[in-house]
Amino acid sequence: MAKVRIRNEIRFILNGRDVALSSVAPDATLLDWLRLDRSQRGTKEGCAEGDCGACTVLVGKLSAGGLVYESVNACIRFLGSLDGTHVVTVEHLRGLPGQLHPVQQAMVDFHGSQCGFCTPGFVMSLYGLWMRSPDPSNEAIEKALQGNLCRCTGYEAIMRAARAISSYGKAAKDPLAVERKAITARLQAMHDGARIEIGAGKERLVVPANVDDFAAVLDKEPGATIVAGSTDVGLWVTKHMRDISPAIFIGDLDGLCTIAEDKGVITIGAGVTYTDAFSTLAKRIPAMGPLFDRIGGDQVRNMGTIGGNIANGSPIGDTPPPLIALGARLTLRKGKKRRTISLETFFVAYGKQDRQPGEFVEAVHVPIPAKGTKFAVHKITKRRDEDITAALGAFFLNLAKDGTVADVRIAYGGMAAIPKRASAVEKALLGKPWTEQTIVTAMAKYAEDFTPLTDMRASAEYRALAARNLLLRFFAETSGTREPIQVSRHEAA
Ligand SMILES: Cc1cc2nc3c(=O)[nH]c(=O)nc-3n(C[C@H](O)[C@H](O)[C@H](O)COP(=O)(O)OP(=O)(O)OC[C@H]3O[C@@H](n4cnc5c(N)ncnc54)[C@H](O)[C@@H]3O)c2cc1C
Ligand code: FES
Ligand code: FES
Repeated sequence: MAKVRIRNEIRFILNGRDVALSSVAPDATLLDWLRLDRSQRGTKEGCAEGDCGACTVLVGKLSAGGLVYESVNACIRFLGSLDGTHVVTVEHLRGLPGQLHPVQQAMVDFHGSQCGFCTPGFVMSLYGLWMRSPDPSNEAIEKALQGNLCRCTGYEAIMRAARAISSYGKAAKDPLAVERKAITARLQAMHDGARIEIGAGKERLVVPANVDDFAAVLDKEPGATIVAGSTDVGLWVTKHMRDISPAIFIGDLDGLCTIAEDKGVITIGAGVTYTDAFSTLAKRIPAMGPLFDRIGGDQVRNMGTIGGNIANGSPIGDTPPPLIALGARLTLRKGKKRRTISLETFFVAYGKQDRQPGEFVEAVHVPIPAKGTKFAVHKITKRRDEDITAALGAFFLNLAKDGTVADVRIAYGGMAAIPKRASAVEKALLGKPWTEQTIVTAMAKYAEDFTPLTDMRASAEYRALAARNLLLRFFAETSGTREPIQVSRHEAA
């Protein structure tokens, strides 16, 4: 590999000003820096774990589509991940001279605020939405606000404000739209292809120049913490006070964020965020769209990566079960060496994955189901939006011409210490006619596959019953024998 140039500072734009920081702790969050270092206290701290949205800011990043502004949670976003971006806080919102910004004025006029603590976060989420979609549907507004909680106003007033923003001004005339070219040029100038290294000894952070550089850095320092979207690692710091140094930041890393399709297989780079994967997956594997809509809120989907969701090995991560059911494979890389394994075998035991020191997840390869294949994913949570899975079932089925089961893969999250196939259930289905009688017989086999736990999300009994019933639901959906119940946010729409 050609020699990599090293830079010892993080550079980004905060609102209108260029910032260069040569002293940054690996675990320094954007929120603390804004409030404590820069005295920009419009951005609030509510939960410090990515749930409430009070800390929402916009981060503009250069991508293939140009400069894109996305809402993110400043409380779990590390300063080390901001190189070459434009951070926009609520202090930067401007209207015509002497006036509030259209989003702010709409919130005032439609009584979208009471105590005001959540308001800057709502304003920033709505600002991000308004810029990409000036006349959003109710569904789009609700989706943009999934990651913002308000304890006192009631959401209807905020919805009314959101629908009215465009009557207060034009998104195309907003300062961020008008200054887009100039900001793009400033960000481009910051992208110099260097590796960033700050600090010394263990107290170091590294932002590799690209994926090859990442492979080399991790190979040398296998004990370092890999930080991608930080939607898990952020909480290790804010909730568990864990030391993450030395840390290697790989969010938006060149060579790790591509998504491509070839010969019926979609290859997703480990650094691709949920937001960036959504359009491809929702189009090519439609059942994945509604699932992605229920992972976190927009802020989490804008930061969280598919590689992080797999690498963390959580038994309640939402992407492994459907990817296992689809027959996905995983490429792991250590230095220059790569190996590709079945995703299913990556999960060895609770907290243990088939990953060697210095090795990282590079990409996941997802076969697109052939025409006629039936595929579904169902996530069960206490609350519909922005909630962690209690149980999740993914179903992949091919029927033979005579109506018997030719091929079936069923995988669950929340039912065992790892994301796991329902092998005994699959065996009971294989070769049998796809009838309710077969399903009822197979449902009795769940006890051989899973011994779920009771925790704050669900009891063991509830999980066991729900898992069995998801198979029945999949049968109803695929056989047309019963009308499946769909709970929609827009019953009346
Ligand atoms: C409010 C909130 C809501 C959430 N809701 C959901 C949800 O609904 N469903 C769900 O599944 N998850 C949810 N999560 C968890 C989290 O968003 C996901 O697990 C996410 O995909 C993690 O990706 P990341 O890029 O943020 O990972 P990070 O936090 O950066 O890293 C996670 C782990 O993976 C490792 N890692 C990251 N990338 C790689 C790589 N390429 N190779 C090897 N190791 C790597 C890190 O070292 C770390 O151990 C939620 C989180 C929050 C804060
Ligand atoms: S403070 Fe609650 S999401 Fe950041
Ligand atoms: S206005 Fe008080 S929390 Fe939303």
